[in-house]
Amino acid sequence: MLVCDPEKDSLAAALRRMGLAGVKIGCDAGQCGACSVILDGEVVRSCSKSMKYVADGSKVTTVEGIGTPTNLHPLQQAWITYGGVQCGFCSPGFIVSAKGLLDTNPSPTRADVRAWFQKHHNVCRCTGYVPLVDAVMAAAKVMRGEATMEDITYAVPADGKIYGTRFPRRESGIARACGLANYGSDMAALMPEDTLHLAVVMPLVAHATIKGIDDTEALKLPGVVKVITAKDVKGTNRHATPTVHPRLKGGGLYWPIICDTKISRFGDVVAVVAADTREHAREAAKAVKVDLEPLPEYATPLEAILPDSVPIHEGQPNLFLTTPLHKGEDTREVFAKADYVVEGSFHSGKEPHLSIEPDIAQAYVDDEGNLTVHSKAQYVYGTKYMIAGGVGLPPEKIRVIQNETGGAFGYAVSPPSASLIAACCLAVDRPVSLEFSYPEHQWFTGKRTAGYANARLAANKDGKVQGYEFDFMLDMGGYSHSVELYADKGLSLHCFGYDVPNLMGLFKMAYSNISYATPYRSFVETQVAVSTESLMDMMAEKMGMDPFEFRYKNVARPGALTINNRPFRETPVEGLMDMLRPKYEAAVAKARAESTPEKKRGVGIAIGGFHTAGAFDDGYADLEMGPDGTFISYNTWEDMGQHAEASAIIHTYEALRPLNVPTDKIKVVMNDSKLCPDTGIAGGSRSHWTFGRATLEAAGKLMDAMRKPDGSYRTYEEMIAEGIPTRYQGASIVPRECDHLDPNTAEGEAFPETMYVVWMSEVEVEVATGKTKVLALKSATDVGTIGNLQGVEGQAYGGMSHSLGFALQTDFRDMKKHSTMKGAGITEIEDMPDDIELLWQETHRPRGPHGSAGCSECFQSALHVAILNAINMAVGVRITELPASPEKVKAGIEAKARGEEIKTPKYYLGPDFHEEIDNLAKQPVSW
Ligand code: FES
Ligand code: FES
Repeated sequence: MLVCDPEKDSLAAALRRMGLAGVKIGCDAGQCGACSVILDGEVVRSCSKSMKYVADGSKVTTVEGIGTPTNLHPLQQAWITYGGVQCGFCSPGFIVSAKGLLDTNPSPTRADVRAWFQKHHNVCRCTGYVPLVDAVMAAAKVMRGEATMEDITYAVPADGKIYGTRFPRRESGIARACGLANYGSDMAALMPEDTLHLAVVMPLVAHATIKGIDDTEALKLPGVVKVITAKDVKGTNRHATPTVHPRLKGGGLYWPIICDTKISRFGDVVAVVAADTREHAREAAKAVKVDLEPLPEYATPLEAILPDSVPIHEGQPNLFLTTPLHKGEDTREVFAKADYVVEGSFHSGKEPHLSIEPDIAQAYVDDEGNLTVHSKAQYVYGTKYMIAGGVGLPPEKIRVIQNETGGAFGYAVSPPSASLIAACCLAVDRPVSLEFSYPEHQWFTGKRTAGYANARLAANKDGKVQGYEFDFMLDMGGYSHSVELYADKGLSLHCFGYDVPNLMGLFKMAYSNISYATPYRSFVETQVAVSTESLMDMMAEKMGMDPFEFRYKNVARPGALTINNRPFRETPVEGLMDMLRPKYEAAVAKARAESTPEKKRGVGIAIGGFHTAGAFDDGYADLEMGPDGTFISYNTWEDMGQHAEASAIIHTYEALRPLNVPTDKIKVVMNDSKLCPDTGIAGGSRSHWTFGRATLEAAGKLMDAMRKPDGSYRTYEEMIAEGIPTRYQGASIVPRECDHLDPNTAEGEAFPETMYVVWMSEVEVEVATGKTKVLALKSATDVGTIGNLQGVEGQAYGGMSHSLGFALQTDFRDMKKHSTMKGAGITEIEDMPDDIELLWQETHRPRGPHGSAGCSECFQSALHVAILNAINMAVGVRITELPASPEKVKAGIEAKARGEEIKTPKYYLGPDFHEEIDNLAKQPVSW
């Protein structure tokens, strides 16, 4: 029996209330398919199916009815084995949808599978779709009797080596594929009865003074317990986020948890309603009256830094950081002597992360008196420290647990939802739960910083780059943190992988009133690459050289110095280009042969990469010997979908190889600050590197303790009997020669490891509409020795799908249109090509565990520019402001047909570039 309100309840809500938590709600608007079920033989999105249209006696199949952990359906097994489960939030919906397909078409082609998922609006933000199609094809074979479950299940190779194999997720994969993993809203359903549900009061304005808040009407509404405002926050009501740089103007504790005096960005929260149900809280939030006095709204820093603008934060200029880079000769002289110069202005926008699961969190005080926060915490320990002072508790009284996370891609590094729920929990002295709607999630969470650059490139007539200049600004939105890290990135990623002898540049950070700065995969490199990789192409074009050959001539080779004037530790790009060259030549020939006047094809190249970890970016992991031959790894390798559990097992297994511990005897305890040491942030492509190094040390200590004089190892019982500790901690200490860059020249080595990728894209542009279709993608990558091939491939496919969206369609500047997944341009399966090739070159990294670097972020470094470059080859239109929408490309094609030159005006980014360089040289500073 099902009890529901047929007028108000959706099928998804009714099913979830029955405990069928495999029905996930992401967009709640029919756009993502996370809630897919089979209703009387038809795949439907249950969030959009009102119960009044569900007939009595209907037959509904959810993922729970497809398979169980001890009796997996072939689709569930294939999802695990073929890398279909990353964050896993979309997995139940996809698996149900795929079941609906195979029920009607047991032998689909790959194209059939893709068309089916497109038709049913199944969207995945993590996998880039290729592994999902692989999984359906493999499962279909089993269901047709052409393969067995064993055939599609991972087995440890005969040599026992799993490092570098496609070792899949284990318990977490099974839970996710069966719909049993507890994401945010599943945890909300498990909260105690006295839990209060929260709803935010979020005036949808970007900049205003708060004159007053009137909660009189809201308090009269059913179920409302309290309207929480800034005065109820028990601490400083400020996030403690690091903002340190010797050239920083301003900073300090200025970012409110609940706004008290003013709204500084679209999405700020001024009050929170606590009520007995989510519905009551949300209804009451609408009744809270907020008296605001408007202030000038700056959508971009281009307006915010104009001389007559008002400061967004008192005592801080809107252009709050300008810091220089200088390598080699004065570039004014270099450019004056150069045979060729190209220049331009470039912009990329505030890319939304577009996780399928919106932001959700819970908080309560546990039985030991610790304020306990469950959230998507992408930095478990960092969250404790960033929220403690603001909510009025010492960090040691705060426990942070990462919920199963339906994607974050960087935004959950920032603390706003954790601090908000923590402050509210203490204000009402009750357990609390906060579930944002998808539009609220879009407005509330941070976004990739937008980038603006004026840049120029000089080369001599034999095709060698002579110099580069950049005036580069990041739009940090309303609030900023990790300034020193942004500065290290913003001064080390230009001309990535190239040998450029002379550079002068300015890296700037400025406020605006849209969103706030938060990490996103390959943060800063993604923005920087738009200028550097466009200019490389523009120079090749000006010189009449092939863009591949121009790059090949200029990539760093042994002996070259980075732009920070230090020797490259490795120079793999030449080898990567050698791998790609025959494919590039074939693709160019094909594009030329297959272009028609209506549909023109092009091939684009770009070089990108990223750094692993950063200065002082240490991390820890514990390893414990347990009874029955088990070994337990304790760590905070936050699992955002990047196979953290599987990779933790791989590292532990590899570190304990002398003991021959089978993988099923390795357990993991992860992402609870009470139980696990601080492994650090799941960002900066550092987790594999940091955890691996720490685990090697922990395993070494443990095996030393276990080792008997004759070289054999003690059992657990022998360790206990002899009183020898069974748990040891290992550390990954970043070599101390890595430090923040010199604030006067940007010389130095800020990062211990580097990853490199050469990208290639093949596109087709429809001349009449300007619509670009990406036909094929290739990458040649060096991330050192590969540790978990499935994890690395997963990051590659996922990063590529985000890059493709960033190039063509994903955006966050229209606060209404871009508040939904579809409106913000999420990449759907029909947008992604199925023709993707990943090529690997493995250069052993002596600092890394088993020779590995990191991997995730290099996969979202510069592919978007390879797509822009391919568009230029196809139709001769250079897009300098992302995304390359059909309208922009069409306008370019038409302007070109009229013989007009298409040029982006030079941005005003502050005082004259060369004067500023000279001024800063006269004002040296030190850390
Ligand atoms: S389609 Fe139902 S939650 Fe997105
Ligand atoms: S695995 Fe598909 S959204 Fe994360």
